[in-house]
Amino acid sequence: MAFDNKYYSAAEAEMSSLRAENTRTLAAHENEIKTKHPEIAALSDALAGTSAKLFMLISDKSGDISTKLAQLEQENLSIQAQLKAALKKHGYEENYLEPIYSCKRCKDTGIAYGKRCSCFMEKVKKAASDDLNKSSPLRLCSFKDFSLSYYDDTLIAGIGTTARKIMEYNLSVCRKYADDFHLPYKSLLMRGKTGLGKTHLSLSIASEVLAKGYSVIYGSAPDIFRRIEKEHFNNQSDEETLDMVIKADLLVLDDVGAEFESKFYVSAMYNIINDRMNASMPTIVSTNLEHSELGKRYGERTYSRLSTMDELFFAGSDVRIKKAEQM
Ligand SMILES: Nc1ncnc2c1ncn2[C@@H]1O[C@H](COP(=O)(O)OP(=O)(O)OP(=O)(O)O)[C@@H](O)[C@H]1O
Ligand SMILES: [Mg+2]
Ligand SMILES: [Zn+2]
Repeated sequence: MAFDNKYYSAAEAEMSSLRAENTRTLAAHENEIKTKHPEIAALSDALAGTSAKLFMLISDKSGDISTKLAQLEQENLSIQAQLKAALKKHGYEENYLEPIYSCKRCKDTGIAYGKRCSCFMEKVKKAASDDLNKSSPLRLCSFKDFSLSYYDDTLIAGIGTTARKIMEYNLSVCRKYADDFHLPYKSLLMRGKTGLGKTHLSLSIASEVLAKGYSVIYGSAPDIFRRIEKEHFNNQSDEETLDMVIKADLLVLDDVGAEFESKFYVSAMYNIINDRMNASMPTIVSTNLEHSELGKRYGERTYSRLSTMDELFFAGSDVRIKKAEQM
């Protein structure tokens, strides 16, 4: 998959500051050893000396050099061993004076075996998904500021339970979902009226899953579908949003049904849900729509997939309004 050039540039910049940082760290190590343990620094200089001589010998094509070579190699190995021992003796790592690489595979060049290194592609992907998540307050919501006190605890006529009981159950399902998150994993369908905490709980899950190191894409359906449509018809950036949405470890597709009604969106919705379900990749879908509306809007095939998700029904009255009244 091809990403927009700006994400490659972002990854290059990141690699370059990584190299600079590692170079600075090594220089600091060298300085420290020089001032605190000059005898170790001398060993390190001697090692550099034998390496240089070794190099000169190898590039010297004249005469028989094998004896000298073996001798120098021996010397080199022996100083290396002394250096390691001396470092260890003073409580340092053996490789304290060696070049530092964040990625051993490509030595922080971003290229390994003639191809972009996986560490580099991870950075490109991260830049692209950060950009997509930028508009969402991914870290703003957490389980700990979700309060059950906003939900009425009087019995709902005909249902025999209370909004608070229902929401207590939803909260516990969401916590457990975040705690047990692994791949492949099940999907959730959050359904209910406005202001009842669907976005709050889905973001709480998202931030915990993110903290576990999984890739998470959060987006409202209007925003995600608009991006997908734009990329599809502009055909410049190679549909990277659709690709990320399909491949993310966890997709939170919020406000489903709030997007403008269009055939293109309906088919995008089907592709996303179908591809992810086929790969057993988890999705959290939130919506204000009733079942009948979901079926009518997205069609049988999408609806039958949505209805296999674990459903959480959100009850109560608008928390957004209650919070505003308290202020
Ligand atoms: N139980 C709760 N405790 C604390 N804050 C809450 C709770 N439920 C919702 N909120 C807050 O109220 C506001 C509305 O909640 P949220 O956005 O999650 O509702 P929603 O169900 O996603 O609504 P909509 O269907 O309109 O998208 C948010 O600021 C959210 O943080
Ligand atoms: Mg919401
Ligand atoms: Zn690498």
